[in-house]
Amino acid sequence: MIILKVNTIMLMELKGTNITWFANSLIILKSFIQFVSSLISDIKEIHRRNIYMRKDLGDKMQFMPLPVLMLATYDQDGKANVMNAAWGGVYDYNQVYVSLSKHKTTDNLELKKAFTLSFATKKTEKISDYFGVVSGNKEDKIAKSGVHITPSKHVDAPIIEEYPLTLECTVESFEDGNLIGNVVNVSIDEDYLDENGKIDVDKMEIIAFDMFNNTYRVLGENVGKAFKDGFDL
Ligand SMILES: Cc1cc2nc3c(=O)[nH]c(=O)nc-3n(C[C@H](O)[C@H](O)[C@H](O)COP(=O)(O)O)c2cc1C
Repeated sequence: MIILKVNTIMLMELKGTNITWFANSLIILKSFIQFVSSLISDIKEIHRRNIYMRKDLGDKMQFMPLPVLMLATYDQDGKANVMNAAWGGVYDYNQVYVSLSKHKTTDNLELKKAFTLSFATKKTEKISDYFGVVSGNKEDKIAKSGVHITPSKHVDAPIIEEYPLTLECTVESFEDGNLIGNVVNVSIDEDYLDENGKIDVDKMEIIAFDMFNNTYRVLGENVGKAFKDGFDL
């Protein structure tokens, strides 16, 4: 009887030792796995850093995308003119900005204090480039290109019918080639409104200026929802 009791105690102690040993082994194995996986990610990071290379391109500004804006004005005789401007964009709420050197357009701006800005499209690519390589001081660009003019009802500036979307602006300021304009009206060719009255961006095929390659590119596909997709992270 005494022998049986002693044996049971010994067996329980032995079992206890086994469980402790097993638990310890698990802890050691877990730490080992953690160590190995952190070692692997360290090696991966070192490898990524070794193959990742950046090249400095210098201080010549590269910027993408740039708009292809058609800046249209009237001259002293009420004749319409238009130039291509890529160095422009949004200045503030309902204000636009364009950086300009001296052109016929700038003389017109000083005189009339008004202009329209339209967005070039795939359809108008060739004439839009023409408006940027020839001055209205040398040629009647409107006549040569064959575009059609409608006077803006809101500002003293022409609307070129071939461009679907136009901002009609007054000059807020024009100093040292920096033009700031107030948008007083936005108008659109009705063909470019969808069945819900919204601007049909795809149909317009607006182009951007690719200053890396001196080319024009059509704006691409819709790839996500702004002010929304970021919350999915
Ligand atoms: C793609 C492109 C972008 C241009 N961007 C600008 C610009 O942002 N500012 C500017 O002063 N001239 C710019 N130009 C040059 C004028 O469009 C060009 O000098 C034009 O002949 C001026 O026309 P105008 O004399 O009839 O006003 C650009 C020309 C091209 C082709």
